[in-house]
Parts: sequence; C-alpha cells; structure tokens
Amino acid sequence: MTRHLLRDDDLSPAEQATVLDLAARMKAERFAHRPLAGPRSVAVLFDKQSLRTRISFDAGIAELGGHPLVVDTQVTHFGRGETLADAGRVLSRYVAAIVLRTHGDDRIAEVAAGASVPVINALTDGFHPCQLLADLLTVRERCGGTHGRTLVYVGDAANNMAQSYLLAGATAGMHVRVAGPDGFDPDPEVVARAEKIAAGTGGSVRVLRDPVAAVRDADVLATDTWTSMGQEDDGLDRITPFLPYQVNAELLAHAAPGAIVLHCLPAHRGEEITDEVLDGPASVVFDQAENRLHAQKAVLTYLLEQSA
Ligand code: CP
Ligand code: NVA
Repeated sequence: MTRHLLRDDDLSPAEQATVLDLAARMKAERFAHRPLAGPRSVAVLFDKQSLRTRISFDAGIAELGGHPLVVDTQVTHFGRGETLADAGRVLSRYVAAIVLRTHGDDRIAEVAAGASVPVINALTDGFHPCQLLADLLTVRERCGGTHGRTLVYVGDAANNMAQSYLLAGATAGMHVRVAGPDGFDPDPEVVARAEKIAAGTGGSVRVLRDPVAAVRDADVLATDTWTSMGQEDDGLDRITPFLPYQVNAELLAHAAPGAIVLHCLPAHRGEEITDEVLDGPASVVFDQAENRLHAQKAVLTYLLEQSA
C-alpha cells in the first residue's frame, strides 16, 4: 500500500518514533544512507514560496543518492487544464515520491488520490508535518525525550503550525497547549483528533486564550508568524489582537527553568518574537532549521520502504 504524509496523524505513535530514531541516525551518519541511489528522482513542487523546505529537500534527496526535481508549479500545467489527481498519476510514472507545498489540504489530497508513490506535505494551509518532525527531533535532543513534556504554542492558533503541534505533539505523548486570540482557534476536528491520540499516548491537549496561563511551566515554547502565506490580504487585523502573545522575555519567564524556544522560521523579529529571545540562550531555532534536513531524509526513506 502506498503511504503518504499529508497530515501529522498519518504516522502512528510507533511510526513517528521510528522516523525520529532514523532521523537521529541519519544526522549522526550524515552521508551513509543512500536508498535513492540509481539515482531515483523525487519531484518537489511549490505552489507557495520557500527557503528552508526547498533547499533541505533538494540537499536531502541528493544526500540519499537521489535526483531532486524542484519545480515552481507556476511554470507548469499543475492544477490547470487537468485534475490534480491526473497530475499525481502522471508524476508517479517518473518519480519515486512527490513532495508538495500548496494551499488547501484538498489539493494535496487530490494529488495523493491519483498517485501511486508516496506524497509528502511540505506545508499546506492546514498542516506542516515535516516541520513537526524536525521540531520533535530538536525536543528529543534538548529535553531528552518528548513523552510527558509540556509543549506550548502561542500566536495564530488557527494556522498550520498550531494544528500540526496539536496532532504531532499528542502523537509524541506531549502535553500540548495552544493559545491565540479570539477568532484564531484551531479547527475543532483537529482538536478532537489530537485529544483522541493523546488519550492513547499519555499526552493531553488544551486550547487556551490566556497566554500567561498557557506558558506556565512549559518545557518547550513555540510560535510562528501572525500572517501565514496567503493571508496577507485577508482583511483581518493580524497585529493588535496578537500582541499579548508575543514571545518576549516577560512571557518566557513563565515557562519552566531551562525551557527551549522554537520557531519554524522565517521569523518576523519584533512581531511574534523579540530579538532578545530569538538570539538568546533558550532559542534552538537554528538547530530546529537544520533538523528539517535530517527529519525529511528519514520520513522519505521510511515512506518509500513502507510503500515498496
Ligand atoms: N519553516 C519553513 O517551512 O520555511 P520555508 O517556508 O522557508 O520553507
Ligand atoms: N504558518 C507559516 C509557516 C511558514 C513556514 C505559513 O504558512 O506561512
């Protein structure tokens, strides 16, 4: 059966742990794993902009012995004049896997419906599961594990990062709290799904409004931009209601001693996070960014093995 990573909950708790173990091994043995030798090709398609995802997949596929085909879809017929399912079906005749950054989750689901090779979500409006694998690898490195640790996300709690923290954090057995202003809560379906996962892993899930209550005793404090790609002209005030959720020294002081700070980057310094915190001792954002490379090599390898 072809396995995809469209949302964080496409990996069971045991599978997520396997992928993170493999990622740690791949990081330690940087160029030793070549499952794409041949080389086999992987299509990496972008409907939206990217720096980290684009370069880390390009480099990672090459490190696995494969041939990356990184394409901006605007210069192709992708999604125009044929169905996305047909595009997925065609690409599956050329490549070993498809990596896609796009808008609605319905778009990537449609590609996967036509594909006979693994499809990996490189960010959609709803989720960012590759980022979460990197984040959890970073938490393991810095906190000695994920189970029982408290992970708090503050900011736009309706966005892809918040929803991925809920699903992937619960899968990793973490106590996940997300907090954002009124009108910026996660999809209730995602919260319910995360609660169900947490019930099986010993984790927990809470959606809060008060940033200070949310951050209290956090082991991991995460945030993200208040304006995600595609939301620039949505007519909402994406500054004023978010100001109490800024990750600054005052808010960080409510976290547990030794807490780490995550940000998927790019960071809007002075908005969702201050320079003081981003460049300070709690910040692990550049390790987190590096871990994209290792985590993506691992999940690509795992899905190819499972789909063989
Ligand atoms: N964190 C992340 O996905 O960065 P890019 O948008 O630069 O790929
Ligand atoms: N929430 C952000 C993440 C960028 C990596 C966005 O979707 O633009």
